[in-house]
Amino acid sequence: MSPTTTTTEVAIVGAGPAGLMLAHLLQRAGIDSIAIDIRDRAAIESTHRAGILEQDSVRLLVESGVSERVLRDGYRHAGIDLAFGGGGHRIDFEALVGASVQLYPQTDVFVDLADARARDGGDVRFGVGDVSVADLTTDRPLLRFTDADGVPNEVGARILVGADGSRSICRHEFPEARRRQFFREYPFAWFGILCEAPPSSEELIYSHSERGFALISQRTESLQRMYSQCDPAEDVADWSDDRIWEELQARVGANGYVLKEGPITSTTVLPFRSFVQEPMRHGNLVLAGDAAHTVPPTGAKGLNLALADVRVLAEELELHLAGDDGALDRYAERALRRVWRAQHFSYWMTTMLHRLPDASDFDVRRQVGELTSIVSSTAGSTYLAEGYTGWPS
Ligand code: DHB
Repeated sequence: MSPTTTTTEVAIVGAGPAGLMLAHLLQRAGIDSIAIDIRDRAAIESTHRAGILEQDSVRLLVESGVSERVLRDGYRHAGIDLAFGGGGHRIDFEALVGASVQLYPQTDVFVDLADARARDGGDVRFGVGDVSVADLTTDRPLLRFTDADGVPNEVGARILVGADGSRSICRHEFPEARRRQFFREYPFAWFGILCEAPPSSEELIYSHSERGFALISQRTESLQRMYSQCDPAEDVADWSDDRIWEELQARVGANGYVLKEGPITSTTVLPFRSFVQEPMRHGNLVLAGDAAHTVPPTGAKGLNLALADVRVLAEELELHLAGDDGALDRYAERALRRVWRAQHFSYWMTTMLHRLPDASDFDVRRQVGELTSIVSSTAGSTYLAEGYTGWPS
């Protein structure tokens, strides 16, 4: 079958929150795009992801006109509890840095953006196959894919964007000699659950304990999200509801909290990894979001970083398409500055709160010493509050 050929200004590989937000922002600037994804919409909607939006992520949704649900159904959180050494200590974001975050799941951000694209007549194709990109260093890079009806497509664009997540195909198009990859693996993972129960706390509890880390988050008045540190090879099938509750209660109980229990409706093991690929631009291909960087989940920076990338990218793409030759490199530099700050923040929260498999008593006491410094110092608490609510760009 001969391919359907079209042209557009920006062709985006990946129609998760990063790809869709970029397409949405570009349309508002009068720039044409197409976004494609190998997953179908239902598969993306049913993947549970993190649930915390930094204040600038919320602002981006508000300023670009997709905030009806986040403002109506999200929950504003003006702080978190750090729990360790037998008690809880509130970090008051509002008092420390005059900012808050919004509890609103990533999947809902995706739904809002997908609906906005459909409403605005955006070209978004889910469930495509055979995706490839070519001619990246020419002024007419190509995106090829087979659409959900089996029709081969070839799209000529001015710029290609790889917003295709942690299993990105686009990042492999950077010649090895021209890219660097930075990795860090962690010897633990999170066992994540959703349960039908009332909230156990109004705000999130990040709980350090000798048995390992636990995070108590929420979703709605009747649905809660919780995580506990586990082995990366943990098999969810080995865990009955009773065993899960016993472990969670023991971890937060050590710090004086009691959880409200209920039926567990979903269990998953989430791997931990830090990753960055530099640079974020090769010829007329740029990367955004998880395609270029992954953070471990502690602190919920992944989606926020992806949204920060595409906000800057939309700005610089507009300049690039108007003839500013420095704009794409400027995007890569501006994005990477934030990426490395978030890499540090996520690594720091992770290593301060989790128990390493070979941790000695010294290591555990040292972590408690660090946590004590954070909560008993305005400078320490403010540092955490700034990072958690998100740095201005
Ligand atoms: C959630 C996930 C996180 O990684 C985090 O740090 C806070 C909240 C969540 O899914 O609610």
